[in-house]
Amino acid sequence: MTERYSKLAVVLHWLIAIGIFLNLKSGLGFDDLPKDQAAAAFAFHESIGISVLGLVVLRVLWRMGNPPPAPLANLKPLERRVSLGIHHLLYLLSVLIPLSGWLTASAHKDAGGHGMVLFNKVPWFNFPGFGGLGDPARHQAHELLGAVHSACAWVIMAALVLHVGGALKHQFIDREKMLQRMWFGR
Ligand code: HEM
Ligand code: HEM
Repeated sequence: MTERYSKLAVVLHWLIAIGIFLNLKSGLGFDDLPKDQAAAAFAFHESIGISVLGLVVLRVLWRMGNPPPAPLANLKPLERRVSLGIHHLLYLLSVLIPLSGWLTASAHKDAGGHGMVLFNKVPWFNFPGFGGLGDPARHQAHELLGAVHSACAWVIMAALVLHVGGALKHQFIDREKMLQRMWFGR
């Protein structure tokens, strides 16, 4: 039985983690930015977020064909269940957050006029289905989806405290080789 995640799973885990951290930081900082910097910061937020969505889809597909290593042998049954539950929650939120963000941006009444251009290079489409709606309906959808996006972002922050806390506890207090499982090497 292998004891660590495959190389691709490791690369994807850390790319996605960096993307999510960058976007949590930029998302929570929008309100403090002067207007002339806000548009660029927002375009970067969209670019990173759509990339995260693509990487998560890839990761889930890869995982379906490549099962993860067995859990560390000395985890207590409760620890096993909690860590598995948090992993599932993290997968779910890693899809829901960028998807709800994309829907929020696409529902905006001005979204039709300016499609997204990821990293100032790659044109990207709005999520279909909002074009036929009137302005009030689009406004309502934008507000609702924005609230879902924001709520999911807060839930992932709480889940990450447990996820990172658990990983560090096993690594440094229980002195198990937990982080090595999610890194490269023999
Ligand atoms: C946004 C950030 C992150 C997300 C979404 C995330 C998500 C996940 C998921 C879904 C798994 C389970 C993989 C699977 O079984 O397929 C996992 C495993 C793991 N993550 Fe993260 N993670 C994040 C950040 C971090 C950070 C900052 C650390 C470092 C402290 C970390 C350390 C680990 C470790 C060590 C494992 C392997 C756990 C095990 O072997 O049971 N993760 N992560
Ligand atoms: C890695 C994925 C993402 C994360 C972690 C993330 C995180 C956040 C956070 C924390 C906020 C601030 C919420 C608040 O003020 O309460 C935010 C706002 C926003 N994000 Fe994202 N985001 C992601 C992806 C995306 C994507 C892909 C898009 C669009 C293509 C997007 C569009 C937006 C919009 C439109 C807002 C403002 C929502 C509002 O009306 O309050 N996000 N995001």
